[in-house]
Amino acid sequence: MESVGGDMASISNIMKYGLPLTGNLVVHAESLAAHAKLVSTAFERKVTAGQPTPEPAIWAKADEFKEKTKAFETETAKLVEVAKTSDPAALGVQMKATAKACGGCHDNFRKPKEESFKRKAAAASEARAQRRIAALTAAIAALLAAASARAGTARPSAVAPSSKPLAAAPATAT
Ligand code: HEC
Repeated sequence: MESVGGDMASISNIMKYGLPLTGNLVVHAESLAAHAKLVSTAFERKVTAGQPTPEPAIWAKADEFKEKTKAFETETAKLVEVAKTSDPAALGVQMKATAKACGGCHDNFRKPKEESFKRKAAAASEARAQRRIAALTAAIAALLAAASARAGTARPSAVAPSSKPLAAAPATAT
């Protein structure tokens, strides 16, 4: 599914920026068609552990899922044919039809984004980054405090202004 997303994004970008890459369009479309053929077998066995996050509905509503898979295969096969003609208008129309096939399946058979492992990983990594920033800010504050202690009370104004923006740093990072 990751590669499917990548191929769709590549086609959109080639179209969006008017890149003269008709050959690439066909390759991306063929890749989509090939991956569409993998979907039915990919979810044949009920595997809900691990990184991918399919909805159990795939197996509860197997017939409907099969239908969506079939539609995906049909639309991506058409996309290959249209990509070969290098007609941007027709390609636009078929890209929409393909995206509709993606959405049609995702609506019922993909877990909402907030339940996706990727979102969770992103949130965890963001939290880690925040903790690192906080630790760094604390370390800098300690260094400044030590420096100011060494400087004694003779030059308190030399330390006070520079410690201000550092104290504000975590707020801007959130
Ligand atoms: C027949 C059903 C079906 C079709 C059609 C389908 N998908 Fe998916 N897709 C899924 C399921 C189920 C998942 C969640 C399981 C997984 O990640 O393998 C998923 C996951 C994804 C993910 C990963 C999302 C995440 O949260 O990590 C991307 C990206 C994606 N699909 C893109 C697409 C695009 C683009 C298309 C159309 C070109 C498409 N899919 C068509 C069923 C489908």
